[in-house]
Amino acid sequence: MSAISASLLFAPWGPDGLARSFGAALGAEQGVFTLREFPDGESHVQVQSACAGRRCVILASLDHPNSKIVPLLLLADTLRDLGATHIALVAPYLSYMRQDKRFHDGEGVTSRYFASWLSRHFDSLVTMDPHLHRHPTLDAIYSIPSRVVHAAPLLADWIAANVSRPLIIGPDSESEQWVREVGARAGAPYAVAAKTRRGDRDVSIELPANLPDASHTPVLVDDILSTGRTLAAVARQLHDRGYPPAICMAVHGLFCGDAEAELQRAGVAQIITTNAVAHATNALDAGPLLAQGLRGLLPV
Ligand code: R5P
Repeated sequence: MSAISASLLFAPWGPDGLARSFGAALGAEQGVFTLREFPDGESHVQVQSACAGRRCVILASLDHPNSKIVPLLLLADTLRDLGATHIALVAPYLSYMRQDKRFHDGEGVTSRYFASWLSRHFDSLVTMDPHLHRHPTLDAIYSIPSRVVHAAPLLADWIAANVSRPLIIGPDSESEQWVREVGARAGAPYAVAAKTRRGDRDVSIELPANLPDASHTPVLVDDILSTGRTLAAVARQLHDRGYPPAICMAVHGLFCGDAEAELQRAGVAQIITTNAVAHATNALDAGPLLAQGLRGLLPV
């Protein structure tokens, strides 16, 4: 048995498809545990697998982080208490990364505080396309070893197989890192729009003037689809310029509130996401990528 296959995998919130493909690619053994709420709302954690002397991996996408963080830290501490030698967190979606500066007086730079909590309870971290904008790397805020994997090849290969004459479009300057890579691998032109955000659900988009002609199929690519307002605004602008209905692709589809309805109102043709966060639009399996990222981090 290889060193990696001896790891115990705990996936308290799935998603089931991701947990299966990730566990298979890692060659991990399923950890047996229960995590439930007492009537008073406290968490009850019980690990049935013998984890003394074992490496343990918790797979937990951190959408809805506020309800997950307490049980997650309690599970990690329980594993440590029971003798696990290494506890890795694989968080395909890593939350709190967008609050990376004090935008207004008195605000907390919560990306730092969240990173500090996780760094105190885990030994290593793997994530996919975290929202690194003002923090240059995860090392700027996480004190544990980390690996970042990139979904661009998954997105690009899907585009190459499914879209004729694609034009890749990123909604804002932050997205250039993803659209450049996706465009290069898919062999497609790309462009980056300019976004102004005035509120949680209030964004406006300015498309570049020199876009390729409207015979292309627009494929909008972003790291996070939250309220859907960003991609909907881009889709509307493209429609006004005579382009066919856009395909929207996001690494992390959070679909907050009426996001899906908003995208439908904007006339998008299709929405495609990875299975980092469970949703009906999941068409891209991130399990093997995440397992590959973790391999270099686990101690032998
Ligand atoms: C922001 O900086 C991200 O890259 C996304 O563009 C943003 O999170 C999308 O949010 P929403 O779907 O709420 O417009």
